[in-house]
Amino acid sequence: MKGILLAGGSGTRLHPLTRAVSKQLLPVYDKPMVYYPLSVLMLAGIREVLVISTPASLELFRELLGDGSRLGMAIDYAEQPAPNGIAEAFTIGSEHIGNDPVALILGDNIFHGPSFSPLLRRNAQQIDGCVLFGYAVKDPERYGVGEVDADGRLVALAEKPVRPRSNLAVTGLYLYDNDVVDIAKNIQPSARGELEITDVNRVYLERGKARLVNLGRGFAWLDTGTHDSLLQASQYVQVLEQRQGTRIACVEEIAYRMGFIDAESCHRLGVEIGSSDYGAYLRAIAMGET
Ligand code: DAU
Repeated sequence: MKGILLAGGSGTRLHPLTRAVSKQLLPVYDKPMVYYPLSVLMLAGIREVLVISTPASLELFRELLGDGSRLGMAIDYAEQPAPNGIAEAFTIGSEHIGNDPVALILGDNIFHGPSFSPLLRRNAQQIDGCVLFGYAVKDPERYGVGEVDADGRLVALAEKPVRPRSNLAVTGLYLYDNDVVDIAKNIQPSARGELEITDVNRVYLERGKARLVNLGRGFAWLDTGTHDSLLQASQYVQVLEQRQGTRIACVEEIAYRMGFIDAESCHRLGVEIGSSDYGAYLRAIAMGET
């Protein structure tokens, strides 16, 4: 399965923070925001990732993540010249996807929860259709919303409905079979002028090939869309990391634990990062101390 990390957009709701810096490069406590969605793709076992961002920001992502080889991955880059909608990721990324299934994650989505890696891997296996991940929120009207029947089967999808028919937000992580490339090519822009991911998902739903996995209340799916929620996301990560002594979305550690790199490479990354606690953490991991 290939991965696409969509990290474009204008981030206007966070101005002036995002006037000169891409939203997905802002810090969430001890690491750039983009580490969090990248870690999700890695936990799904995905090693080939296309990062899509604006022409102005793409070089910064390249500087941060390089070609991925340090993480035992292959990371490529592509421009989205204008924020024409999330579904455009599949036309921009069609060559990267090739004939494979693909996972798309939005660069501002932060997930944290128990047994996430096995959950992702289970759902990514032999995918036929699409798998969406739902999360109960108190303000579903801000998101794509999924309606499920009594057996938990997905029956309807709506993008930012004024009167949501459920409290299940559709999160920014999507798994698709290869049909998504053709489906995305054929959808039309919505009233707000965007190629909507919800329209892609609705095609799968109409074909009887869309599933919604409810992440459940033990999970955290954090918002980073406002100044307050961005700070709260940092505080969430800080509280857990300090309490547990382990790090959330530490991509170097995940690369090591997933077997993408060996202990020596993990240690080298810790040395390269230098004197910060983050670097010391990686060195300790590599030496089996954590
Ligand atoms: O976060 C989950 C939600 O993401 C879903 O529930 C919605 O169904 C989905 O439409 C999307 O809603 P948002 O209102 O959050 O979309 P937004 O336009 O804010 O874009 C989400 C991220 O994707 C953001 O980091 C910017 C990036 N993006 C967005 C667009 C439209 C791009 O990189 N390119 C784009 O063209």
